[in-house]
Amino acid sequence: MTTLDHSLSRRRFLRQSFIFSAAAALRPFTSFATIDKSSPNPHAAHALMIGDWGDDRHLESQTSVARAMAAYARQYRLKQDALFLLGDNFYGEFPGGVNCPRFRTDFEEMYPKDVFDCPAYAVPGNHDYEARPEIKFQSQLAYAARGNTRWTEPAQWYSYKFPLHNPIATVIALDSNMPFPDGKLTHGFTHVMTEEQRKQQLEWFKAELAKPLTTPFRIVIAHHPIFSNGPHGDHKVLIADWEPLLREHEVHLYLAGHDHDLQHLEFEGHPTSFFLSGGGGADLYNERNEVVQRGPFFNKVHGFSHLEATEKLLTLRHLDTDGKIIHAFTKSPDGKVTILA
Ligand SMILES: [Fe+2]
Repeated sequence: MTTLDHSLSRRRFLRQSFIFSAAAALRPFTSFATIDKSSPNPHAAHALMIGDWGDDRHLESQTSVARAMAAYARQYRLKQDALFLLGDNFYGEFPGGVNCPRFRTDFEEMYPKDVFDCPAYAVPGNHDYEARPEIKFQSQLAYAARGNTRWTEPAQWYSYKFPLHNPIATVIALDSNMPFPDGKLTHGFTHVMTEEQRKQQLEWFKAELAKPLTTPFRIVIAHHPIFSNGPHGDHKVLIADWEPLLREHEVHLYLAGHDHDLQHLEFEGHPTSFFLSGGGGADLYNERNEVVQRGPFFNKVHGFSHLEATEKLLTLRHLDTDGKIIHAFTKSPDGKVTILA
């Protein structure tokens, strides 16, 4: 692609991002298929994911999602290769820090090892940065470092291969808790990452992306969405810092949470599918900044999501607490997206 082509394509993409032209955004590369979206492949690699899940004020919701996840995995006999914990892993008080009993009750027992015998890769959400009384994110790093747990969070930002054996995707897990532009903490925030950390992570992210890709797919995971039809909307700092890198390196998937709903967004000319899974248990708040007409999918519902991976295809599914698949699509290594009917 020439520089001129690139700038034209980028201008067109940005215009669509802010004008919210859903129909035009989908037309060039998305097709609908009659493949049965409810037929997981037991021979593929599998990861279930949840965002915004550890809310002890809404344990009933979290429990109903967790039960649906286990029932779904059992129903289709899906050996789990990973759990993706998309942030806001623990809301509220977290007494005892690394010794907090909520690690056991709200994680180890909630997502039982006999079903999910796999690493649970976590990224920090804004609520994980709260000091209640210790900064919960630091307690999560310390808990993972102890070992003897599935909780996997070796650093503030890190990368891994999915699955661990015969990997299909290179996954880059990032901290999206960006400093406030004016340096002030508002809306009840007690901590965010520092400006120095933001720059360090950005340089590390660029270096990771510059490495030769040894898997068919590349995935980036963070708590905050870059683009969202939910109340938090689009994220200006992430659009400036990360979105151009996703385009340049043709990242296949960006997985996030933060808004308490399930979403899938596509944009004309953009190589990345934006997939949001924030229905893991926290309350489904009603506020909406504006009605945003982008797609192909948005549903404000509790639920979880499923990444199925073979060397030839990623399949993404959103499911509700009844275990019903409410949206699904596939993505090929060359970037073709197919919505499953
Ligand atoms: Fe959040």
